[in-house]
Amino acid sequence: MQIVSNIQEMCSISDEVRKIGQIIVLVPTMGYFHEGHLSLMREGRKKGDVLVVSLFVNPTQFEEGEDYEVYPRDFSRDKSLIAGMGVDILFVPALEEMYPEGYQTFLEVERLTKPMEGQFRPTHFRGVATVVAKLFNIIKPNIAIFGEKDYQQLVVIRRMVEDLNMGVEIIGMPIVREGDGLAMSSRNTYLTLEQRKAALSLNRSLKKASELYRSGERNPMRIIDTVKEVIEREEGIIIDYVEIRDAKTLEEIEIIGDQAVIALAIKVGKVRLIDNLIFGEE
Ligand code: PAJ
Repeated sequence: MQIVSNIQEMCSISDEVRKIGQIIVLVPTMGYFHEGHLSLMREGRKKGDVLVVSLFVNPTQFEEGEDYEVYPRDFSRDKSLIAGMGVDILFVPALEEMYPEGYQTFLEVERLTKPMEGQFRPTHFRGVATVVAKLFNIIKPNIAIFGEKDYQQLVVIRRMVEDLNMGVEIIGMPIVREGDGLAMSSRNTYLTLEQRKAALSLNRSLKKASELYRSGERNPMRIIDTVKEVIEREEGIIIDYVEIRDAKTLEEIEIIGDQAVIALAIKVGKVRLIDNLIFGEE
């Protein structure tokens, strides 16, 4: 595995690889790897010739007062976790090179970024879209792989790629969970034992949603109310939102049809967690 931190060097490598007709697959990450990240890399390895993983904790996608400064970072842990995954290049650009002095260009995806996460993190997707577009320009992947864990992010990236004719194939991969059902996240490391126990109500509530769906319930409000009840039984959890929307457009729906997603976000202490489920796909 080659470690590249210089942007120009990464550009040159990508140009060479594309010139000889090889397929570049990119897995963008902010590091502190867990099995969720590794599942994307495993898929990436199968899909192309050169597998690039980017590791960059992107400041522009954190809101003021969020956890940018304390976001978990451990480069040597990350390097050893992905040894043996078949990663060809680990791209770790420096902050000063990604956002040098005078930087002032940002990319905005409009309607899709307003509800759900956007209500609580109004500049988050502007930062995500910008950094992903920059990574695409630098690495020039044929294919990029994202997790369904960040469901709205995946939909936003698909829209951006289509709208701006980026010509990158976007692959979405299922959520990887811990044995107890908690969706894997770099932020889980912040949880105390007690908070973690409370956080299990997320998966429990989604399972309940899925049961209701399977028993024929198609009314979003009734499922949302049950999900909220299950979560609110735990102490110390604040619900940011529980929403059921069209899985492709993220528009609100009155009846659950073939393509709907239930997505939620909560705070337990200072830790913010998200989870979701696509009806009919569980
Ligand atoms: P990060 O949170 O590090 O996640 C990197 C990728 O791993 C994302 O596509 C995310 O959806 C996926 N992922 C995280 N947890 C997962 C899980 N439990 N199962 C499956 N996939 C999972 O998402 C970001 O970084 C950033 O916003 C980024 C796209 C890199 C832009 O900065």
